[in-house]
Amino acid sequence: MQTNLTAVESQFLNETVAGLQASPKFMLAKYFYDERGDYLFQQIMEMDEYYLTNAEMDIFSNQASHIANLIIKGDTPFDLIELGAGDATKSIHLLRELAKQNLEFSYFPVDISAHVISELEENLPKELPDLNIKGLNGDYLDMLKKAAALSNRRKVVLFMGANIGNMNLDEAHEFLLSLRKLLSKGDMLIIGFDLKKNPKQILAAYNDSKGITSAFNLNLLERINRELGGDFELKNFEHYANYDPESGACKSYLISLKDQIVHIGAAATISFARDEHIYMEISQKYALEDIERLALRSGFQCRHNFFDANRYFVDTLWT
Ligand SMILES: C[S@@+](CC[C@H](N)C(=O)[O-])C[C@H]1O[C@@H](n2cnc3c(N)ncnc32)[C@H](O)[C@@H]1O
Repeated sequence: MQTNLTAVESQFLNETVAGLQASPKFMLAKYFYDERGDYLFQQIMEMDEYYLTNAEMDIFSNQASHIANLIIKGDTPFDLIELGAGDATKSIHLLRELAKQNLEFSYFPVDISAHVISELEENLPKELPDLNIKGLNGDYLDMLKKAAALSNRRKVVLFMGANIGNMNLDEAHEFLLSLRKLLSKGDMLIIGFDLKKNPKQILAAYNDSKGITSAFNLNLLERINRELGGDFELKNFEHYANYDPESGACKSYLISLKDQIVHIGAAATISFARDEHIYMEISQKYALEDIERLALRSGFQCRHNFFDANRYFVDTLWT
């Protein structure tokens, strides 16, 4: 392990150790996305079982001009800030539409993965040469604050891909309250929610037959080994996902297959009992009433819902 850790690496170490020393043990989903995690997530998005990508792609590829029309307000310049932009394959439809209309706007993609930001800054201008783009590498709200400090134009915040689903209901409420405080009258939020549907269909998206979701979860152990000097034996852990249709929570875990001891460099020694779980991630599913309630409780008003043809997913515009 490196002895001189950067601030980002120290935070990764501290939060990882705190999660593994907690009871029950947990890890933070934001750490899934190193370069290999980005690659595996792209593979997940291409899986047949992962209906979410096609559903939201359907919305953005077929309704971008409607979304753009609601964003444009009397031609006033604005900043489009996309939280957790990933590879922007869906939002590019909206960017194209806005670019076509010759509007004055800047695009600030925000992502915790430095790799994602450098790819976007390199690739998007090839397709949209006039796009005014500035990538912001860091955590959602820190980077939203930074974007707000860079300009005082009105803000349109995009939060797609059901990223909000990676927070439980209370965390989502807290997050949206904090986000709301960073916005002003006239600003907008377009936010994606995966809707409750047949439980088998939901579970299959997080428990695919080719084991890509499993590899995505196990990659975080590999990342800890590589970056924090951990000695996780990947074969001693197994991916497990479950979905509860009552609460709408789809959760994934890694299960320890034996009694074992794992070191995180010199920083911590962690014991695992056989069958003990590490909670890895939640993907919360919503009913439309839950979404409306969440908007109101967080100080927003729901203005328009964009659904895909199957009504699997909704991107909702809040002011
Ligand atoms: C599930 S992917 C979705 C990507 C994209 N929005 C889409 O719909 O295809 C989540 C993205 O959010 C980023 N991310 C996760 N947690 C984050 C955080 N706390 N702050 C900033 N970015 C984060 C990840 O690096 C990843 O690129």
